Amino acid sequence: MNQQNSSAKSDEELLEEASRLEAEALAEQERGEGYQPKRDLHAGAEDGQADGPESFLKPVNAASHVKHVIGVVSGKGGVGKSMVTSLLGLELARRGYRTAIMDADITGPSIPKAFGLRGPLMQDQDGIIPAETAEGIKVISLNLLLPDETDPVVWRGPIISGTVQQFWTEVHWGEIDYMLVDMPPGTGDVALTVFQSIPLDGIIIVTSPQDLVSMIVTKAVKMAEIMNVKVLGIVENMSYFVCPDCGAKHYIFGHSTIDSVAAQHGTKVLDHLPLNPEAAGLADAGKIESLKETPLKHTADEITR
Ligand SMILES: Nc1ncnc2c1ncn2[C@@H]1O[C@H](COP(=O)(O)OP(=O)(O)O)[C@@H](O)[C@H]1O
Ligand SMILES: [Mg+2]
Repeated sequence: MNQQNSSAKSDEELLEEASRLEAEALAEQERGEGYQPKRDLHAGAEDGQADGPESFLKPVNAASHVKHVIGVVSGKGGVGKSMVTSLLGLELARRGYRTAIMDADITGPSIPKAFGLRGPLMQDQDGIIPAETAEGIKVISLNLLLPDETDPVVWRGPIISGTVQQFWTEVHWGEIDYMLVDMPPGTGDVALTVFQSIPLDGIIIVTSPQDLVSMIVTKAVKMAEIMNVKVLGIVENMSYFVCPDCGAKHYIFGHSTIDSVAAQHGTKVLDHLPLNPEAAGLADAGKIESLKETPLKHTADEITR
Protein backbone atom coordinates (compact mmCIF):
# COMPACT_ATOMS: atom_id res chain seq x y z
CA MET A 1 0.00 0.00 0.00
CA ASN A 2 1.57 3.26 -1.02
CA GLN A 3 0.71 6.71 0.12
CA GLN A 4 -0.80 9.38 -2.07
CA ASN A 5 0.31 12.95 -2.19
CA SER A 6 -2.11 15.35 -0.60
CA SER A 7 -2.67 17.80 -3.47
CA ALA A 8 -6.35 18.65 -3.73
CA LYS A 9 -8.30 16.76 -6.37
CA SER A 10 -11.91 16.99 -7.34
CA ASP A 11 -14.33 14.14 -6.64
CA GLU A 12 -14.41 13.37 -10.36
CA GLU A 13 -10.63 13.16 -10.56
CA LEU A 14 -10.56 10.85 -7.55
CA LEU A 15 -13.20 8.56 -9.00
CA GLU A 16 -11.38 8.52 -12.33
CA GLU A 17 -8.20 7.66 -10.50
CA ALA A 18 -10.01 4.91 -8.60
CA SER A 19 -11.28 3.41 -11.87
CA ARG A 20 -7.81 3.60 -13.37
CA LEU A 21 -6.21 1.89 -10.35
CA GLU A 22 -8.88 -0.77 -10.45
CA ALA A 23 -8.33 -1.40 -14.17
CA GLU A 24 -4.56 -1.59 -13.62
CA ALA A 25 -5.01 -4.05 -10.76
CA LEU A 26 -7.27 -6.23 -12.92
CA ALA A 27 -4.82 -6.12 -15.81
CA GLU A 28 -2.05 -7.04 -13.37
CA GLN A 29 -4.07 -9.99 -12.12
CA GLU A 30 -4.71 -11.14 -15.68
CA ARG A 31 -0.99 -11.01 -16.35
CA GLY A 32 -0.49 -13.15 -13.27
CA GLU A 33 1.14 -10.42 -11.21
CA GLY A 34 0.16 -8.87 -7.91
CA TYR A 35 -2.64 -10.20 -5.70
CA GLN A 36 -3.94 -13.59 -6.70
CA PRO A 37 -6.95 -15.19 -5.08
CA LYS A 38 -5.83 -18.38 -3.34
CA ARG A 39 -8.55 -20.55 -4.84
CA ASP A 40 -11.86 -20.36 -6.65
CA LEU A 41 -13.68 -17.27 -5.56
CA HIS A 42 -16.59 -17.54 -3.22
CA ALA A 43 -20.06 -17.25 -4.65
CA GLY A 44 -20.58 -13.58 -3.73
CA ALA A 45 -21.20 -12.71 -7.37
CA GLU A 46 -23.82 -15.43 -7.73
CA ASP A 47 -25.68 -13.95 -4.79
CA GLY A 48 -26.27 -10.95 -7.01
CA GLN A 49 -23.99 -8.88 -4.80
CA ALA A 50 -21.58 -8.01 -7.56
CA ASP A 51 -24.18 -6.77 -10.04
CA GLY A 52 -25.25 -3.21 -10.79
CA PRO A 53 -23.17 -0.07 -10.71
CA GLU A 54 -20.78 -1.40 -8.04
CA SER A 55 -18.23 -2.63 -10.53
CA PHE A 56 -15.51 -2.42 -7.86
CA LEU A 57 -17.02 -5.32 -5.94
CA LYS A 58 -14.99 -8.42 -5.37
CA PRO A 59 -16.17 -11.74 -3.93
CA VAL A 60 -15.68 -12.18 -0.22
CA ASN A 61 -12.71 -14.11 1.16
CA ALA A 62 -12.81 -17.66 -0.19
CA ALA A 63 -13.21 -19.31 3.22
CA SER A 64 -15.88 -16.88 4.46
CA HIS A 65 -19.61 -16.50 4.16
CA VAL A 66 -21.24 -13.23 5.20
CA LYS A 67 -25.04 -13.21 5.05
CA HIS A 68 -25.82 -9.52 5.58
CA VAL A 69 -23.69 -6.39 5.38
CA ILE A 70 -25.00 -3.19 6.92
CA GLY A 71 -23.22 0.16 6.58
CA VAL A 72 -23.33 2.77 9.34
CA VAL A 73 -23.14 6.23 7.77
CA SER A 74 -22.97 9.79 9.09
CA GLY A 75 -22.81 13.29 7.67
CA LYS A 76 -19.69 14.23 9.58
CA GLY A 77 -17.34 12.89 12.25
CA GLY A 78 -18.09 13.00 15.94
CA VAL A 79 -21.83 12.31 15.85
CA GLY A 80 -21.41 8.84 17.34
CA LYS A 81 -21.19 6.60 14.27
CA SER A 82 -18.65 4.33 15.95
CA MET A 83 -20.62 4.33 19.20
CA VAL A 84 -23.76 3.26 17.33
CA THR A 85 -21.82 0.62 15.37
CA SER A 86 -20.32 -0.80 18.58
CA LEU A 87 -23.61 -0.88 20.49
CA LEU A 88 -25.49 -2.33 17.53
CA GLY A 89 -22.85 -5.03 17.15
CA LEU A 90 -23.22 -5.80 20.82
CA GLU A 91 -27.01 -5.97 20.58
CA LEU A 92 -26.85 -8.35 17.59
CA ALA A 93 -24.24 -10.57 19.29
CA ARG A 94 -26.38 -10.69 22.45
CA ARG A 95 -29.32 -11.84 20.33
CA GLY A 96 -27.20 -14.81 19.27
CA TYR A 97 -26.19 -13.69 15.78
CA ARG A 98 -22.66 -14.29 14.54
CA THR A 99 -21.62 -10.68 14.31
CA ALA A 100 -18.68 -8.83 12.78
CA ILE A 101 -17.61 -5.21 12.63
CA MET A 102 -15.49 -3.93 9.78
CA ASP A 103 -13.89 -0.62 10.72
CA ALA A 104 -13.87 1.07 7.31
CA ASP A 105 -13.28 4.51 8.82
CA ILE A 106 -9.63 4.14 7.85
CA THR A 107 -8.48 7.62 8.85
CA GLY A 108 -10.39 7.60 12.15
CA PRO A 109 -10.52 3.99 13.30
CA SER A 110 -12.00 3.70 16.78
CA ILE A 111 -13.72 0.30 17.04
CA PRO A 112 -10.75 -1.61 18.55
CA LYS A 113 -10.38 1.02 21.25
CA ALA A 114 -14.00 0.76 22.39
CA PHE A 115 -13.66 -3.03 22.77
CA GLY A 116 -10.14 -2.93 24.20
CA LEU A 117 -8.68 -4.87 21.25
CA ARG A 118 -5.06 -4.72 20.19
CA GLY A 119 -2.96 -6.14 17.35
CA PRO A 120 -1.03 -7.76 15.95
CA LEU A 121 -3.37 -10.13 14.17
CA MET A 122 -2.46 -13.66 13.11
CA GLN A 123 -2.93 -15.23 9.71
CA ASP A 124 -3.88 -18.73 8.56
CA GLN A 125 -3.87 -20.24 5.07
CA ASP A 126 -7.24 -18.57 4.38
CA GLY A 127 -6.30 -15.05 5.35
CA ILE A 128 -6.00 -12.62 8.23
CA ILE A 129 -7.79 -13.79 11.38
CA PRO A 130 -9.95 -10.96 12.76
CA ALA A 131 -9.72 -9.96 16.41
CA GLU A 132 -12.54 -11.19 18.63
CA THR A 133 -14.21 -9.33 21.48
CA ALA A 134 -15.15 -10.93 24.81
CA GLU A 135 -18.72 -11.44 23.55
CA GLY A 136 -17.54 -12.94 20.28
CA ILE A 137 -17.77 -10.04 17.80
CA LYS A 138 -15.16 -10.38 15.06
CA VAL A 139 -13.41 -7.08 14.32
CA ILE A 140 -11.05 -5.85 11.64
CA SER A 141 -9.54 -2.37 11.66
CA LEU A 142 -6.44 -0.75 10.30
CA ASN A 143 -5.53 -0.01 13.93
CA LEU A 144 -5.08 -3.74 14.49
CA LEU A 145 -2.67 -3.93 11.55
CA LEU A 146 -0.57 -0.79 11.98
CA PRO A 147 2.69 -1.17 13.90
CA ASP A 148 1.80 1.87 16.00
CA GLU A 149 -1.89 2.62 16.44
CA THR A 150 -1.18 6.31 16.99
CA ASP A 151 0.28 6.66 13.47
CA PRO A 152 -1.97 9.00 11.48
CA VAL A 153 -3.31 7.67 8.19
CA VAL A 154 -3.24 10.26 5.44
CA TRP A 155 -4.28 8.16 2.45
CA ARG A 156 -6.80 9.42 -0.04
CA GLY A 157 -9.97 7.82 -1.44
CA PRO A 158 -8.69 5.19 -3.88
CA ILE A 159 -6.09 3.80 -1.49
CA ILE A 160 -8.61 3.70 1.33
CA SER A 161 -11.10 1.83 -0.81
CA GLY A 162 -8.35 -0.63 -1.76
CA THR A 163 -7.69 -1.29 1.91
CA VAL A 164 -11.37 -1.76 2.66
CA GLN A 165 -11.60 -4.15 -0.29
CA GLN A 166 -8.81 -6.20 1.28
CA PHE A 167 -10.75 -6.26 4.54
CA TRP A 168 -13.42 -8.01 2.48
CA THR A 169 -11.28 -10.32 0.35
CA GLU A 170 -8.32 -11.16 2.56
CA VAL A 171 -9.80 -11.50 6.03
CA HIS A 172 -10.85 -14.98 7.09
CA TRP A 173 -14.23 -14.00 8.53
CA GLY A 174 -15.72 -17.48 8.59
CA GLU A 175 -19.50 -17.69 8.98
CA ILE A 176 -21.11 -14.33 9.74
CA ASP A 177 -24.81 -13.47 10.04
CA TYR A 178 -24.43 -9.69 10.29
CA MET A 179 -21.42 -7.59 9.41
CA LEU A 180 -21.61 -3.92 10.39
CA VAL A 181 -19.38 -1.52 8.49
CA ASP A 182 -18.29 1.65 10.29
CA MET A 183 -18.12 3.85 7.17
CA PRO A 184 -15.92 6.94 6.73
CA PRO A 185 -17.88 10.04 7.81
CA GLY A 186 -19.57 12.18 5.20
CA THR A 187 -20.97 11.60 1.74
CA GLY A 188 -17.94 12.72 -0.27
CA ASP A 189 -15.46 10.79 -2.37
CA VAL A 190 -13.97 8.68 0.44
CA ALA A 191 -17.35 7.46 1.68
CA LEU A 192 -18.43 6.87 -1.91
CA THR A 193 -15.40 4.80 -2.88
CA VAL A 194 -15.86 2.68 0.25
CA PHE A 195 -19.55 2.31 -0.67
CA GLN A 196 -18.32 0.89 -3.98
CA SER A 197 -15.94 -1.60 -2.36
CA ILE A 198 -18.35 -3.52 -0.14
CA PRO A 199 -21.61 -5.22 -1.12
CA LEU A 200 -23.86 -3.44 1.37
CA ASP A 201 -27.40 -4.72 1.88
CA GLY A 202 -28.54 -1.61 3.67
CA ILE A 203 -27.42 1.45 5.60
CA ILE A 204 -28.23 3.05 8.92
CA ILE A 205 -27.81 6.84 9.01
CA VAL A 206 -26.54 8.32 12.28
CA THR A 207 -27.29 11.97 13.00
CA SER A 208 -27.26 14.19 16.06
CA PRO A 209 -29.65 17.07 16.80
CA GLN A 210 -27.00 19.74 16.26
CA ASP A 211 -26.23 18.27 12.83
CA LEU A 212 -27.52 19.80 9.58
CA VAL A 213 -30.01 16.98 9.65
CA SER A 214 -32.05 17.67 6.54
CA MET A 215 -29.03 18.06 4.25
CA ILE A 216 -27.23 15.04 5.66
CA VAL A 217 -30.20 12.73 5.37
CA THR A 218 -30.88 13.94 1.82
CA LYS A 219 -27.28 13.31 0.78
CA ALA A 220 -27.09 9.90 2.42
CA VAL A 221 -30.39 8.81 0.88
CA LYS A 222 -29.22 9.98 -2.56
CA MET A 223 -25.91 8.18 -2.19
CA ALA A 224 -27.73 5.00 -1.21
CA GLU A 225 -30.08 5.34 -4.19
CA ILE A 226 -27.20 5.76 -6.63
CA MET A 227 -25.49 2.70 -5.16
CA ASN A 228 -28.72 0.71 -5.13
CA VAL A 229 -28.54 0.16 -1.36
CA LYS A 230 -31.55 0.19 0.97
CA VAL A 231 -31.86 2.85 3.69
CA LEU A 232 -32.99 0.91 6.76
CA GLY A 233 -33.52 4.00 8.87
CA ILE A 234 -32.00 6.69 11.04
CA VAL A 235 -30.56 6.64 14.54
CA GLU A 236 -30.57 9.99 16.28
CA ASN A 237 -27.69 10.06 18.73
CA MET A 238 -27.31 12.43 21.70
CA SER A 239 -31.02 13.19 21.38
CA TYR A 240 -31.61 14.14 24.99
CA PHE A 241 -30.15 13.88 28.46
CA VAL A 242 -31.84 12.06 31.30
CA CYS A 243 -31.38 13.94 34.58
CA PRO A 244 -29.73 11.47 36.98
CA ASP A 245 -31.57 13.06 39.93
CA CYS A 246 -35.14 13.46 38.72
CA GLY A 247 -35.20 11.20 35.63
CA ALA A 248 -36.62 13.99 33.44
CA LYS A 249 -35.62 14.10 29.75
CA HIS A 250 -33.86 17.33 28.75
CA TYR A 251 -33.60 18.12 25.05
CA ILE A 252 -30.47 20.19 25.45
CA PHE A 253 -29.96 20.67 21.72
CA GLY A 254 -33.61 21.59 21.26
CA HIS A 255 -36.32 19.41 19.78
CA SER A 256 -35.03 17.93 16.56
CA THR A 257 -36.80 17.81 13.23
CA ILE A 258 -35.50 14.35 12.44
CA ASP A 259 -38.86 12.58 12.44
CA SER A 260 -40.33 14.85 9.77
CA VAL A 261 -37.10 14.80 7.76
CA ALA A 262 -37.16 10.99 7.84
CA ALA A 263 -40.78 10.92 6.70
CA GLN A 264 -39.98 13.26 3.79
CA HIS A 265 -37.49 10.69 2.54
CA GLY A 266 -39.75 7.71 3.04
CA THR A 267 -37.66 6.39 5.88
CA LYS A 268 -37.99 6.38 9.67
CA VAL A 269 -36.14 7.07 12.89
CA LEU A 270 -35.41 3.70 14.45
CA ASP A 271 -33.98 4.79 17.80
CA HIS A 272 -33.25 7.97 19.72
CA LEU A 273 -30.10 7.53 21.80
CA PRO A 274 -29.70 9.73 24.85
CA LEU A 275 -26.43 11.29 25.91
CA ASN A 276 -24.91 8.53 27.96
CA PRO A 277 -21.81 9.46 29.98
CA GLU A 278 -21.44 5.86 31.16
CA ALA A 279 -21.24 4.55 27.58
CA ALA A 280 -18.74 7.27 26.64
CA GLY A 281 -16.57 6.41 29.65
CA LEU A 282 -16.70 2.67 28.93
CA ALA A 283 -15.86 3.20 25.23
CA ASP A 284 -12.93 5.33 26.26
CA ALA A 285 -11.70 2.65 28.66
CA GLY A 286 -12.07 -0.19 26.11
CA LYS A 287 -14.89 -1.74 28.13
CA ILE A 288 -17.98 -1.03 26.07
CA GLU A 289 -19.12 -4.63 26.64
CA SER A 290 -19.62 -3.83 30.34
CA LEU A 291 -22.68 -1.83 29.26
CA LYS A 292 -25.77 -3.80 30.34
CA GLU A 293 -28.30 -2.16 28.03
CA THR A 294 -27.72 -1.32 24.37
CA PRO A 295 -30.44 1.21 23.56
CA LEU A 296 -30.76 0.17 19.91
CA LYS A 297 -33.51 -2.43 20.08
CA HIS A 298 -35.62 -1.05 17.21
CA THR A 299 -32.58 -0.72 14.97
CA ALA A 300 -31.61 -4.34 15.64
CA ASP A 301 -35.25 -5.40 15.04
CA GLU A 302 -35.25 -3.61 11.67
CA ILE A 303 -31.94 -5.16 10.60
CA THR A 304 -32.96 -8.70 11.55
CA ARG A 305 -36.55 -8.47 10.33
N1 LIG B 1 -24.82 8.84 23.19
C1 LIG B 1 -23.63 9.26 23.61
N2 LIG B 1 -23.46 9.73 24.85
C2 LIG B 1 -22.27 10.17 25.29
N3 LIG B 1 -21.17 10.19 24.53
C3 LIG B 1 -21.25 9.74 23.27
C4 LIG B 1 -22.48 9.24 22.74
N4 LIG B 1 -22.25 8.86 21.46
C5 LIG B 1 -20.94 9.09 21.22
N5 LIG B 1 -20.34 9.63 22.31
C6 LIG B 1 -18.93 10.02 22.43
O1 LIG B 1 -18.69 11.04 21.50
C7 LIG B 1 -17.43 10.87 20.87
C8 LIG B 1 -17.62 10.71 19.36
O2 LIG B 1 -18.34 9.51 19.12
P1 LIG B 1 -17.87 8.50 17.99
O3 LIG B 1 -18.76 7.32 18.05
O4 LIG B 1 -16.41 8.24 18.06
O5 LIG B 1 -18.21 9.39 16.71
P2 LIG B 1 -17.91 9.18 15.16
O6 LIG B 1 -17.57 7.74 14.96
O7 LIG B 1 -19.16 9.61 14.47
O8 LIG B 1 -16.77 10.09 14.85
C9 LIG B 1 -16.79 9.65 21.52
O9 LIG B 1 -15.96 10.08 22.56
C10 LIG B 1 -17.98 8.88 22.06
O10 LIG B 1 -17.65 8.09 23.20
MG1 LIG C 1 -15.79 6.86 14.40
